[in-house]
Amino acid sequence: MTDVPAVTANEAGSLTVRDNRTGSEYEVPITDGTIKAADLGKIRVSEEEPGLAVYDPGFVNTASCRSAVTFIDGDKGILEYRGYPIEQLAEKSNFLEVAYLLIHGELPTKEQYDNWEHEITYHTFVHENVKTFMQGFRYDAHPMGMMMASVGALSTFYPDARNIGDPDNRHMQMVRMIAKMPTLGAWSFRHAQGKPYIYPDNDLGYTANFLSMLFKMSEKKFEADPRLVKALDVLFILHADHEQNCSTNAVRSVGSSQVDPYSAVAAGVGALYGPLHGGANEAVLRMLRRIGKKENIPAFIEGVKAGNEKLMGFGHRVYKNFDPRATIIKKACDDVFEVTGVNPLLEIAKELEKIALEDEYFVKRKLYPNVDFYSGLIYEAFQFPPEMFTVLFAIGRTPGWLAQWLELVQDKEQKIARPKQIYTGDRQLDFVPASERWK
Ligand code: CMC
Repeated sequence: MTDVPAVTANEAGSLTVRDNRTGSEYEVPITDGTIKAADLGKIRVSEEEPGLAVYDPGFVNTASCRSAVTFIDGDKGILEYRGYPIEQLAEKSNFLEVAYLLIHGELPTKEQYDNWEHEITYHTFVHENVKTFMQGFRYDAHPMGMMMASVGALSTFYPDARNIGDPDNRHMQMVRMIAKMPTLGAWSFRHAQGKPYIYPDNDLGYTANFLSMLFKMSEKKFEADPRLVKALDVLFILHADHEQNCSTNAVRSVGSSQVDPYSAVAAGVGALYGPLHGGANEAVLRMLRRIGKKENIPAFIEGVKAGNEKLMGFGHRVYKNFDPRATIIKKACDDVFEVTGVNPLLEIAKELEKIALEDEYFVKRKLYPNVDFYSGLIYEAFQFPPEMFTVLFAIGRTPGWLAQWLELVQDKEQKIARPKQIYTGDRQLDFVPASERWK
C-alpha cells in the first residue's frame, strides 16, 4: 500500500486531472472537500466545444451552497441545528426558541426570546380575505394543496415582501410566516370537516394555540393536555430543518430568482407534498392499514423485495445507520399514547420494523426507519387524518426554510439556480406545416 499523507477530507489541496482525450493536465483546487464545478468547465477538447460538466440527477454528490444552519452526519446519525444536538433541543428547548436559533444563528437572551414570542403571537391573525378565499376551495380539498396556495397568496397581501434587500423587511416577513402557518394549517383542516374556522387565541403558546384552532368547538377556551402540546412541539422541533432536502432546495432554487419569501416557501410546501418527501408518513399509515395484521407482514416484505413497492418510512438519502429523529419520535409515541390510548397500528409497525431490520435486503442497503415511520402513528393519535400530516411537517419546517432562504439572499456566491442538461433530442429538423403533414 502506498503511503497516504495524513490529511483530512476538508483540507485544502488540489486535484490533478488528465484528460485522456487530449492528453492535457489540469490542476483543480480542492476547498472544503469539494471542487468547483465551474473549474471542470475549463477542461475542454477545443475552444469551440463546451467544457466538461458533471451529470448529477437528484444532486446526490453536488453541494449547492455553503450553509451554517444544520449539520448532519448520516453515517453516525448526528443532526445538529446551529451546532446544538437535536436530542438536547427536543428535550430542553421549545419550537419557538429553536425557530429563533435557526434564523438568528444563536440562542436568544431572555429579552430577545420575549420579543420574538410577542412578535410571533401578535402576527397569528390573517387578513379576512385570506379566510374568504380559503372558504372557496372545494369541500374535499387536500389541506396541503390549500396550504400551498394560501402561503403563496400571502405574497399578494404583503407586496412589500418583494423588498428582500432590506433586513427589517425580511425579518417582518419571516415573523409573519412562522406566525401564520398554524392558522392556515388549522383552517385547511377545519375546511374539510365543514367546521367554522377558529381564530387564534393569543393567550396560548404557539403549539397550544394551533391545537385550539384545530379542535375548539363551543367551549370558551380550548386547553389541550400539556403532554400533547409538548409532544407536538417536539415533533415541530424534529422537523424544523434538515439541510439541503428536496423542499429546502426548492425554496432556495425559487428564492434564487429573488422572488418574495412567500412564493419561495410556497414552492417548498409543494415539494414537501410529494410521497417521497413529506408525504411519506401518510403513505406509511396507508401501508400499515393495508397490511392489516401481523400475519400479512411476510408477504408484504416479499413484495417489497420483489420491487413491487417500497417499504414506506424506511431508507434515507443521508442517514445510513439510523435517523436520530426516529429514535426521539419513538419515545414521543409512548408519551402521546399515554394520553390517547395506543394506536392498534403500532403493533404492526413494530413487528414490521423488527422483521425488516433482520432481513438481508434492508440490512445490505442500509435501510432503517426514518422520521416518518412513527410520526404518522402519533399524528393519528391526535385524530389528524393522513392528509394533515404533511401540513404539520410544513409548519415545523417553516423556520428551516426561512433560515436557509435568509442565508441564500445574504450569500454573495449564490446565483440564480440554473442547472445544465445533457441534450438527447433531435436537432435541425425541417418543420413541415400541419396543412402539409395532415394531407
Ligand atoms: N423500501 C424498499 N427498498 C428501498 C427503500 C424502501 N423504502 N428505499 C430504498 N430502497 C432500495 C432501492 O430500491 C435501491 O435498491 P437497489 O440498489 O436494489 O436498486 C436502494 O435501496 C437504494 O435506494 P435509492 O432509491 O437509491 O435511495 P435514495 O437515497 O435515492 O432514496 C428515499 C431515499 C428516502 C427516497 C428512499 O429510501 C425511499 O423512497 N424511501 C421511502 C419513502 C420515505 O420513507 N421517504 C421519507 C424520507 S425521510 C423524510 C425526509 O427527511 O424528507
